[in-house]
Amino acid sequence: MGQFDNILKADESLFKQEEALSYEYLPKVIPHREKEQEQIASAIRPVLTGRNGRNILIHGPPGVGKTAAVRHLLEELDENDEFSDKLNLVYINCWEKNTSFKIIEDICNKIGYAFTQNKNTEQLLEVGSQILNKKASVIVFDEIDKTKEQDFLYSLITKVSKKTIIMITNYKSWLLDLDERIKSRVMPEQLEFKPYNQNETKDILEKRKEYAFYDNVWEKDAFEYAAEKCFRMRDMRAGLFLMKESGLEAEEEASRKIRKKHAEKAVKKLNEFTIKNSEELDSELKFILKIIKENSGKKIGDLYKIYKKNAGEYSYKTFQRKISKLDEGKFITLEKTHAGGNTTIVNKKLSDF
Ligand SMILES: Nc1ncnc2c1ncn2[C@@H]1O[C@H](COP(=O)(O)OP(=O)(O)OP(=O)(O)O)[C@@H](O)[C@H]1O
Ligand SMILES: [Mg+2]
Repeated sequence: MGQFDNILKADESLFKQEEALSYEYLPKVIPHREKEQEQIASAIRPVLTGRNGRNILIHGPPGVGKTAAVRHLLEELDENDEFSDKLNLVYINCWEKNTSFKIIEDICNKIGYAFTQNKNTEQLLEVGSQILNKKASVIVFDEIDKTKEQDFLYSLITKVSKKTIIMITNYKSWLLDLDERIKSRVMPEQLEFKPYNQNETKDILEKRKEYAFYDNVWEKDAFEYAAEKCFRMRDMRAGLFLMKESGLEAEEEASRKIRKKHAEKAVKKLNEFTIKNSEELDSELKFILKIIKENSGKKIGDLYKIYKKNAGEYSYKTFQRKISKLDEGKFITLEKTHAGGNTTIVNKKLSDF
């Protein structure tokens, strides 16, 4: 072998399909979620035979395949000739659509009703449910805890006849906060998605690697290092991020192989692995974030006391708003609790451990 055979040429790439590492990419199979998918499928099954389905609340930490598993089932139903004509399959992301109006409008658009302009929530609900009732429905509300109102749930449950409602959240406790009147009608069964174990993590990344990279570009120890890091962070997105960055690092050096040193460089970039970069935060937000990281798992009120002790100047209201902002940017996670009165627990992200 010549001295320069290991050099990647300018027009060559290690990536066969780089999009396969994007967080939105839906792989053809979702390994290690077979049991969970079976439980979701059995809640939907009655709907396929003209009865009312069961509702289900899926909960679990970020990056454990909740969205992927559900989207995969919807896709399977959509591709099934026997069922797809008899079903309305609707997926709503409540981070983007967070009010009853926006949600109902989105449902109308997704079931092919385009004349939503100048109509209010009630009117849209009326036409929407009429269309929905021509078939049976599977309606998914992803990130349901991001909704500012929950009336739409009550309306859909009372107006739509044959349906399964699937709700996905990071916080099981979201259900406790739900208005009693809605809760007693939704009555979802619950399904927890736990983080993957070490072998499962490695196996999932291995399959993703096959979609994304040409054969044999990864050195074994480099891949194992990235997979181990992903397992410790308990978030598959971290693994996808590391695989992509390792590949880019290798290409940067025109290397035909992804080596451990490339994966190590990628790990250094993990701090950027938030939706936004913490460098972009202003100094007061950085200060609050630091306090949260040092006191993760505390109630918001207790955190505020620590903030004040450290010469923080904001009022409690402003402090709460800043906390919401950090939550929206995915720098931290918030959890509602009922223990000792309604309050919010503020956690650092799993990736910070
Ligand atoms: N079992 C799996 N097989 C293949 N890919 C997976 C699997 N689990 C997770 N992934 C991938 O990991 C990424 C994160 O998964 P997903 O979006 O489903 O997480 P989530 O549990 O919905 O997280 P969040 O609560 O933050 O929304 C996605 O790109 C997804 O395709
Ligand atoms: Mg998700």
